[in-house]
Amino acid sequence: MVLSGDAAQARSRTDTALPLCATDPLTRVREALDAQERDGLHRWLRPRSAVEPVIDLASNDYLGLTRDPRITEAAAAAARQWGGGSTGSRLVTGSTALHAELETVLAFFVGGANATVFSSGYLANIGALTAVGGADVTIVSDANNHASIIDACRLARSPIIVYPHRDVQAVDAALASRRTPHAVVVTDAVFSADGDLAPLAELHALARQYGALLVVDEAHSLGVVGTSGRGAVHAAGLAGEPDVIQTVTLSKSLGAQGGAVIAAPEVIELTINKARSFIFDTGLAPAAAGAALAALGVIKAEPHLAAAARTVAERLAQLVRSTGAETTQPAAAVVPAFLGDPRVAVAAAQLCLDAGVHVGCFRPPSVPRGRSCLRLTARANLTDSEFNHVATVLSEAILRAKGLSPA
Ligand SMILES: Cc1ncc(COP(=O)(O)O)c(C=O)c1O
Repeated sequence: MVLSGDAAQARSRTDTALPLCATDPLTRVREALDAQERDGLHRWLRPRSAVEPVIDLASNDYLGLTRDPRITEAAAAAARQWGGGSTGSRLVTGSTALHAELETVLAFFVGGANATVFSSGYLANIGALTAVGGADVTIVSDANNHASIIDACRLARSPIIVYPHRDVQAVDAALASRRTPHAVVVTDAVFSADGDLAPLAELHALARQYGALLVVDEAHSLGVVGTSGRGAVHAAGLAGEPDVIQTVTLSKSLGAQGGAVIAAPEVIELTINKARSFIFDTGLAPAAAGAALAALGVIKAEPHLAAAARTVAERLAQLVRSTGAETTQPAAAVVPAFLGDPRVAVAAAQLCLDAGVHVGCFRPPSVPRGRSCLRLTARANLTDSEFNHVATVLSEAILRAKGLSPA
């Protein structure tokens, strides 16, 4: 008997199918959890209370705005006027005059042409790269880029070339050797775990030489880097360049929630038309839009906030160096203390917390293997007495955690 193509394929699938497993369907789930635990990578939630007796060096509230009454009142007013949610996709009922105002103010603040807001920074990265990517566009991406960029590259269905962290020569080679007519270079401006700055001017020069777009994620630079915190693209003199696309989050220095893509008008139009994370997602909640808009007003009126956050970051980096842990030169508010083994990092973070200092703890896949770290984040309003307490606690915690290490 001769089988038709489809029938033959179905038959061969049945012939090679794995035997059905009659065990508890949660067995595999439990095994996966056990593996996480074994590797020191288990994660858990720690619901915090509204008021905590700890010094916060873990959040991304770099300017201390999330509890600022000007921000919370704006959020409440926006919710009262527009509702608890935005009621639909931005393309149906989820676009309000408030969203439009936020987009105008945000684009103007960072010096870009147009902006469109998303319900998170994660979705903004997915939206930007899926809009401009595709099978005919090679994406050249820094090895230490944020997970949202990595996921966006995959969803864009583009050929991807990952280059060693901040290696401009490797970007040159990647662009020269690409097999597609188009290309995009994508980088964090300030890297979310390393805290260092991407070589934006060099990357832009290369992108322009090869006719590529440069996508810059300003999640950690907006509000902290450059004059009044206008961001790293602005500080590098690249604001408004038509071949530069900025993505931002509203959830860090702006003390709100949400994200945005800021770019040339045609890029924004394509994003609105093509980005599934924009089209098939409920629009940014009005409270978040109102809070972000108010935060932009505060940052503009108080340009010293950005500089204050950077000064605290510099002091924290010196402190980390004094403990013997490796760190980087902080470009914004993120200061890592590299400890290597994830168990040592977890133990050190817990010792800090027990002593009243909340620090972040980054382990794979947030960082490469062997690069587990404490992640300290500067806050513009950290007081001297808080800093002194942190200094005592951090040194002791790192020392004790290393002593607990099996290595
Ligand atoms: C570099 C970077 N990009 C994007 C995001 C995602 O932003 P959001 O938390 O608003 O989704 C983050 C958040 O941690 C980040 O660090």
